[in-house]
Amino acid sequence: MIIAIDGPAGSGKSTIAKLIAKDIGLVYLDTGAMYRLVTLKALNEGILGNGKLSDLGKIKKLLDNLNIDIKENGFYLDDVDVSEEIRKPIISENVSDIAAIREVREKMVDLQRKFSKSKNVILDGRDIGTVVFPNADLKIFLVADAKERAKRRYKELVEKGENVEIEEIYDNILKRDKIDSTRRESPLKKAKDAVEVDTTFKSIKEVKNEILKMINVNI
Ligand code: CDP
Repeated sequence: MIIAIDGPAGSGKSTIAKLIAKDIGLVYLDTGAMYRLVTLKALNEGILGNGKLSDLGKIKKLLDNLNIDIKENGFYLDDVDVSEEIRKPIISENVSDIAAIREVREKMVDLQRKFSKSKNVILDGRDIGTVVFPNADLKIFLVADAKERAKRRYKELVEKGENVEIEEIYDNILKRDKIDSTRRESPLKKAKDAVEVDTTFKSIKEVKNEILKMINVNI
């Protein structure tokens, strides 16, 4: 069984997907984390300067030598747990530029399909229902007002001890939405057969229950 959850930055995808996975025993795959791992690697290697890509050849080489691992307890880059690091604002600042590169997407999509093979999986991202699994059993498109999304992300980061401004987060969310939805490769968009759920005025529990009902009806 494949359940696809897509939507813009901070719409609640990972929170909801994690809860549903736990509730009904699915494996959860956070595909955004994979693009974040590639971004961290690119930053570590100095391939990204001022947020702009300096050299596609270097990115290809990086992909050829990429050593990432998705384990139950965290995300690993070169055998180091970088789960915390990939959520930092510097990564959010650069990830959409990296995720727009065709070669990066091809590699990540391939890994996502391999990871999901013969498993019951819930995946969240931007292109799961449109590109990665166009035949998913259920497709959800989560949306929420951008101000509300910024508030949620701000709270999350402050709780982790990050020193951030809500305006910066709001700007980053708008910027990423724009890059993600206007890029040429697999842009963020609702699949024709996806169910849209607006989470702006709903609690996590409400959204979770709404989706669980759809799973029971559809699958
Ligand atoms: O959690 P948040 O909404 O901040 O974003 P994320 O899911 O961690 O994704 C980070 C970035 O990765 C997005 O802004 C996209 O640029 C990219 N992404 C993508 O292109 N395709 C996916 N399937 C997942 C993420």
